[in-house]
Amino acid sequence: MSDVKQSEQLFDLAKAAMSQAYVPYSHFTVGAAILTASGELYSGCNVENASYPEGTCAEAGAIAAMVRDGQTQIKEIYVMGEGEALVTPCGGCRQRIREFSSEDTIIHICGPEGVRKSLTMNELLPFSFGPENLA
Ligand code: THU
Repeated sequence: MSDVKQSEQLFDLAKAAMSQAYVPYSHFTVGAAILTASGELYSGCNVENASYPEGTCAEAGAIAAMVRDGQTQIKEIYVMGEGEALVTPCGGCRQRIREFSSEDTIIHICGPEGVRKSLTMNELLPFSFGPENLA
């Protein structure tokens, strides 16, 4: 599959995930889609809870699906949200993505109309702490 087709597929997957978000409290839907180094795709949406801190982010859902399938290397991740501001991963999700990233991992920040910004892991979370620190 061409890179363009694959980007479209990931974008569509993030959008479809976003449409399934469970957000009765914030009404702010987020979707995420991951491409692994081995070419597998996973997605997730945010899932809120009446006990607010128990809600989970879209990125966390996509990462859980990936790990459940035995995959641990994120090549690209698409994160999509609405509104004018860039929906960049929250601090906790930057660290979650970092766990499964390499120097080449790209984070695409999207709105429903398209990709708004693409960042490397190091741009999104410089001077990060990761698995190498514990090796
Ligand atoms: N949210 C995500 O799903 N990912 C992020 O990186 C930022 C925030 C969700 C959490 C909550 O359900 C809603 O957006 C509003 O904060």
